[in-house]
Amino acid sequence: MMRAVTIKEFGGPDVLTVEDVARPEPLPTEVLVRVHAAGVNPVDWKTRVGHGMAGLQTFPLILGWDVSGVVEKVGFGVTTLVPGDEVYAMPWFPRAAGAYAEYVTAPARQWARKPATLDHVHAAAVPLAALTAWQALVDTARVQAGQRVLITAAAGGVGHFAVQFAWHLGAHVIATASAARHPWLRELGAEEVIDYTATRFEQAVKDVDVVIDLVGDGQDRTGTRSIEVLRPGGLLVAVPGGVSPELVRAAEVAGVRATPFLVEPDGPALTTIAGLIDEGQVAVEVAETFPLDQAGAAHARGEAGRTRGKLVLTLAG
Ligand SMILES: NC(=O)c1ccc[n+]([C@@H]2O[C@H](COP(=O)([O-])OP(=O)(O)OC[C@H]3O[C@@H](n4cnc5c(N)ncnc54)[C@H](OP(=O)(O)O)[C@@H]3O)[C@@H](O)[C@H]2O)c1
Repeated sequence: MMRAVTIKEFGGPDVLTVEDVARPEPLPTEVLVRVHAAGVNPVDWKTRVGHGMAGLQTFPLILGWDVSGVVEKVGFGVTTLVPGDEVYAMPWFPRAAGAYAEYVTAPARQWARKPATLDHVHAAAVPLAALTAWQALVDTARVQAGQRVLITAAAGGVGHFAVQFAWHLGAHVIATASAARHPWLRELGAEEVIDYTATRFEQAVKDVDVVIDLVGDGQDRTGTRSIEVLRPGGLLVAVPGGVSPELVRAAEVAGVRATPFLVEPDGPALTTIAGLIDEGQVAVEVAETFPLDQAGAAHARGEAGRTRGKLVLTLAG
């Protein structure tokens, strides 16, 4: 058996309850990992209330997709990992991964060795947010040196990685965040920072090649407003909420492109990201940690929408 945070119905933070459940066993090609820390992401609380990835899940559901831990056991056929290896991953997404638990199983190649310079708490803050930033900037937008990249909600989990990756790619980085976050975002690589509480970004920037929108049309119409700042042929990666038919039409009329986006498990990309972290090129910001039985408090904190970096649940020492 193992301890896990389960939900049996959609609802507020109080539907998250700790209980003993069966410990999973690795199938052939899978790895069983003892979870030391689990990252908390907006998709966790969106799914908890019945949105996010809720339609793909069944009850009882163990939320959480970000894991950092130690390999406990490998299934038949695994040749790349052995018990004792320190690994991290965003396994199974958008199927349930069950990261808010003492043990997780997932295919061996969805894991990567955790950054050697990070403890488990900081490693657990990386996978979902950093893979989102990486897959949006590198695989989707194919950002090149010299391009102008606007990142909205740059101070959050995804945003703080996106700023650093875009800077690493040689882009001119423009970020939106509240004023208190500006000095920190400049340290991470933002050359222009816009206080979204005081200035509408479409009045402050133009000729942008790529917008990584992390706020979405559901809040403040940032997707639709992004179209005004893109140069002809530029690309909006609409990370939360996707692209509505209205947004597609508006982009066509303006001569720009807009794409929905959903992050995917990617062990090799996590290996690349671990390399950047261990070289000191990318920093990981953890705003606050919570013990596993305080998952509800972590959700409440995250849902307030003001997190600088990431929230993480702690398990084994
Ligand atoms: N499609 C996908 O695959 C995918 C993957 C990952 C995340 N997402 C979605 O992307 C969004 C961002 O995720 P996240 O983990 O980065 O969230 P997060 O860490 O919870 O974001 C918190 C940050 O949002 C900033 N913020 C809030 N409203 C803002 C606004 N109107 N303009 C600019 N900044 C604003 C806050 O900045 P201040 O503190 O400065 O106010 C805070 O730092 C979420 O909706 C999430 O569900 C989607």
